Amino acid sequence: MRDFIPARRTFLKSVGGAATFALLPAPLLLSGCQQGAAETDAKDSGLDEGPFDVELTLFARPDVTPILPGAASEVWRYTARLIKGPDDTLTHSDDSYVGPLIRLRRGQHVRVHIENHLPEATTVHWHGLHVPPEVDGQPRFPIQPGATRTVGFLVDDRAGLYWYHPHPHGEDGGRVGFQSYAGLAGPLIIEDDHERERNFPNGNQELVMVLQDRNFAGENELTYLSDGMGSMMTRMQGFKGDHLLVNGKPAAVKEVSATAYRLRILNGANARIYKLAWSDGRPVTVIGTGGGLLETPEERPYVTLAPAQRIDLWVSFQDDPKGAEIQLITEPHRASDMMDGGMMMGGMMGGSDNTSDKPTPLLTLAVNGAAQKAVRPLPGRLSSDLDSLPRPDDTTKIRPFRLSMKMMRGFAINDRQFEGATVADDEVVSLGTTEIWEFFNDTMMPHPIHVHGLQFMVVSRRNANARSARQLKAGIVDSGLHDTVLVLPGERVQIALTFKDFKGLYLYHCHNMEHEDNGMMRYYEVRK
Ligand code: C2O
Ligand code: CU
Ligand code: CU
Repeated sequence: MRDFIPARRTFLKSVGGAATFALLPAPLLLSGCQQGAAETDAKDSGLDEGPFDVELTLFARPDVTPILPGAASEVWRYTARLIKGPDDTLTHSDDSYVGPLIRLRRGQHVRVHIENHLPEATTVHWHGLHVPPEVDGQPRFPIQPGATRTVGFLVDDRAGLYWYHPHPHGEDGGRVGFQSYAGLAGPLIIEDDHERERNFPNGNQELVMVLQDRNFAGENELTYLSDGMGSMMTRMQGFKGDHLLVNGKPAAVKEVSATAYRLRILNGANARIYKLAWSDGRPVTVIGTGGGLLETPEERPYVTLAPAQRIDLWVSFQDDPKGAEIQLITEPHRASDMMDGGMMMGGMMGGSDNTSDKPTPLLTLAVNGAAQKAVRPLPGRLSSDLDSLPRPDDTTKIRPFRLSMKMMRGFAINDRQFEGATVADDEVVSLGTTEIWEFFNDTMMPHPIHVHGLQFMVVSRRNANARSARQLKAGIVDSGLHDTVLVLPGERVQIALTFKDFKGLYLYHCHNMEHEDNGMMRYYEVRK
C-alpha cells in the first residue's frame, strides 16, 4: 500500500473559478470543516470483544486512477486489506476509484479499522445496515486526518447489496457529496444460507454495478460544483454529471454466455435518478431491493432507481442468438416538476435527469455463444421471511414529515434543517415499537428519503399524478424492504418502521447528497 499522497495539483477543479472548497489549500479546507470539536476523537466502539470472523483495514486516501481514456484522474478512494476472514471477503478494484466489494455473511462478527489519510475529517457509514449508532459512521463521530477508528458489529441484515460511504458534516455543511464524488464509496454484499439455497447466478454470472455520474475538465480532472449561479442550482437540483460511469468507467461491452445473470445495481450517484431498461424492450425482472430478496419476482417495463437505492435483477440470454447485443440503458425522464418556464438557466438548470434526450447505454452485453444447457428457471418464491415482520395496523402511530423548500437555503423536513446531534420532541421514538412515517413532498423536486439503522416497508404511495410520477411510477418497486424511498413531487408516501435492538441517535435525510449536505437531514432518537 502506498502512503498518504497529498493532492499537490489542483484537485477536483471548479469550472468558472468561483469559490469551491476544492481549490483551497488543505489547512483552510480543514478549518472550514470543523466536525464538532467536542465530540471528536470518539473512542473505538461497537463490539469490543472478539473473536471476530472478519477483520480488515479500510484506508481512505487521495490517489490517481484512470477513469476516461487518456490522463488518469485525481480521486479520493477506499482501499482495504484483509487481516482475517474468508478469502472472498474483499474484491479489489485496482484500476477504478470505486471502493473494494466487501462480501460478508449474516452472523459474522466484523471488525474494521478505518484509517483516514485524507486532508480532512471523514467517517464511514454502512448504508442500510442495522448496527449500533456508534458504528454507523454518523457526523458526530468524525475521524480526523491521520487518525484511525476501529468499529465492530454483528452482521444482522438480510442477504442483499448494501454500500459504504463517508458521512461527515461540519459547521459549514455536509461533505458527503464532495467526498463521495471524489470517489469514496463502495459496494457491500451480505450473503446468507437461505439465499445460497436459491442457487442464483453467481461467480462470473453475478455482476455488481455501481452507477455514478461525473464531469471532467482539462486533462480528465474531476469537477464538482460550477460557478456561483451553478452552485446555487446544484444546491437545488443536486449534482448531475454528463458522463455516466459504471464501476468508475464509461459504458463498456461485456461478453456474456447464453445463460442467466444476476445484476446487482447500486445507484451511487449524488443526485441522478436512473430509469433502467433493456434496449430491446424485454421486461426487467426484479428479484430484490435494498433490503434483500422480494417475496416473488416482479416484472417491470423499467425500474426507477433513486440515489442510494439498490436493485437486484435477473436476466437470461438463453434465447438470444450468438452475436446479439443487449444494452442496459437509462431512459430520459424529467424527475422534477419545475415548470419549463422556470428553467431560466435552460440546460444548466438540469431539471431533467438526462444527458441527452435519447436513452444512454450503461452496459452492453454481447452474447458470445449459443446456450449450452437449459437455464435454471427463477424460483417462483424468492423468500418467505417477510411475512413474519411486524406490520402496522389501525392503531399504529402515524408520524407526519413535510418536505419543503427554504428559500435560498435548500430543503427542510418539517421546516427544520440539520442542527447536529439534537432532536425535537417529535423526533423521539420508542424502542420496540412500530410506527408509520408519512413523507409529504411539498416541493417540485424528487427526494429519496433514507432512514438509518433499519429496513422499512413501503405501506402506501398517494397523489402521484404529477409529471414526474407519470414518467417514473411504473418503475418504482415498493415491495420488499428498503432503507431509501423515493418521494416524488406532490406524493405522500407512508413507510412502516420497527425500532429494535439499539437505543440512541440515528439520522434520517434526503439522499440527494447536495440536499443532505445543505441541511435536509435530521437526527431521530430511539429511547427506551
Ligand atoms: Cu447513505 Cu446517511 O446515508
Ligand atoms: Cu445510511
Ligand atoms: Cu432532497
